[in-house]
Amino acid sequence: MKTIVLTGVTRGLGRALLEEFALLGHRVIGCSRTRSGIESLQAEFPAPHYFDIVDVAEDPQVQSWARHILAEFDPPDLILNNAGLMNPVGPLWSVSADDFRRVMATNLEGIANVTRHFLPSMIRRGNGVMVNFSSGWGRTTDAGVAPYCASKWGVEGLTQALSQEVPPGMCIAALNPGIIDTDMLRSCWADNAGSFEAPSRWARRVAPWLLRLGPTENGQALTAPGVAT
Ligand SMILES: NC(=O)c1ccc[n+]([C@@H]2O[C@H](COP(=O)([O-])OP(=O)(O)OC[C@H]3O[C@@H](n4cnc5c(N)ncnc54)[C@H](OP(=O)(O)O)[C@@H]3O)[C@@H](O)[C@H]2O)c1
Repeated sequence: MKTIVLTGVTRGLGRALLEEFALLGHRVIGCSRTRSGIESLQAEFPAPHYFDIVDVAEDPQVQSWARHILAEFDPPDLILNNAGLMNPVGPLWSVSADDFRRVMATNLEGIANVTRHFLPSMIRRGNGVMVNFSSGWGRTTDAGVAPYCASKWGVEGLTQALSQEVPPGMCIAALNPGIIDTDMLRSCWADNAGSFEAPSRWARRVAPWLLRLGPTENGQALTAPGVAT
């Protein structure tokens, strides 16, 4: 049984991955911001799974979450930095400073916060995989999503630099998950999102693939297998 830390577990890709990992017999330690979402996961997925209300953009919250988790469980085998936010779609000059900050704080600083408080335990053990969710918009750009693009291009750079810092035996990789019909996609494309793959189908294929990642993928900009990009 692997121990998997999964941020953004209540909806979309995170929720679908949780179901698959649980079916495959692994322990998921998940977080999201919304109390009701976390409470229903606690009821639906009892031990060995574990869920907490944590905003990854808030370093002190991530710090106390990690302290608690690492006191209770072994260091994670796999960390999936999946939690993400889209900006209100529009030209950059129409995006408020607060909305811009929130996107950067979740998509980019959130990964740094999780790294700061979880990764040293994996480094001490000498192995582990951390996958940072990027996007097609972390490798290309479009009008209307400049803050999101900035954050995801940042994820790619942060991931590559970090992969050069960890010792042999570790894997730090960026992932473009593809285009999947989630709340986030609907916030950009409304009902047009419905022509893309459902998260459950995506996760059935991608969860086992994520479990097979290892040191040979360190530093890579990965794309999930079989996805629309
Ligand atoms: N769907 C796609 O087509 C697509 C394409 C490219 C990349 N991605 C990336 O894939 C990841 C998942 O996307 P998705 O489509 O599944 O998004 P989603 O449906 O909007 O779900 C996002 C999840 O992240 C959580 N979350 C958001 N902000 C958080 C924070 N500050 N702290 C903790 N949890 C937070 C949300 O729960 P709460 O609201 O309860 O916190 C929710 O569970 C994101 O990084 C996204 O950028 C998605």
